[in-house]
Amino acid sequence: MKSNKIAFIALLLWVATIAAFAWFFVRGSTVPGTDGRTAVMLQPVERDFVLAEMRGLLLSVQGILEGAHQGDMQRIVRASRAAGMAAAEEVNPALMLKLPLGFKTLGMSVHRDMDEIAKAAESGAPVAEILKMASTTLGKCVACHSAWRIKAGND
Ligand code: HEC
Repeated sequence: MKSNKIAFIALLLWVATIAAFAWFFVRGSTVPGTDGRTAVMLQPVERDFVLAEMRGLLLSVQGILEGAHQGDMQRIVRASRAAGMAAAEEVNPALMLKLPLGFKTLGMSVHRDMDEIAKAAESGAPVAEILKMASTTLGKCVACHSAWRIKAGND
């Protein structure tokens, strides 16, 4: 009887731990922001990492547009591939856990789009098609920026 009770308590604790982990995984480390957006709470070094990645995305968008304007498909391939899924693999797991699920999903889909743009440019898709893809991807940048901001502790 006694060991049954202990097993039950252990099970409850286990379920509570999983539930807390799942809740944290979905919500990430967030607080309401001062401007209506949700603020993701990061360490300054993590914030710097995310913002550097963002500037990389902007650089890629600029490269794609320049390549499209000059008809230089290789420029488009290089620019978009630099922001593809391979670039996202360097993110450390502790930072990943702090990002809300919606944020991660949108971020990953931008990296996937960049790989798709690189593939399209490689296979000689018309520039209009590439611009359409890039414009759809930019819609995701806009969506994320209007929902989330970053708040770094200790700075
Ligand atoms: C999953 C969410 C998300 C996506 C997708 C996203 N961003 Fe961001 N970006 C952010 C957040 C959060 C910030 C910080 C904003 C703040 O704190 O006010 C940011 C900041 C930036 C900055 C400022 C960098 C700095 O040094 O201050 C640039 C530039 C930027 N993003 C470009 C882009 C571009 C271009 C895309 C699309 C190709 C993009 N971002 C897609 C979330 C995202």
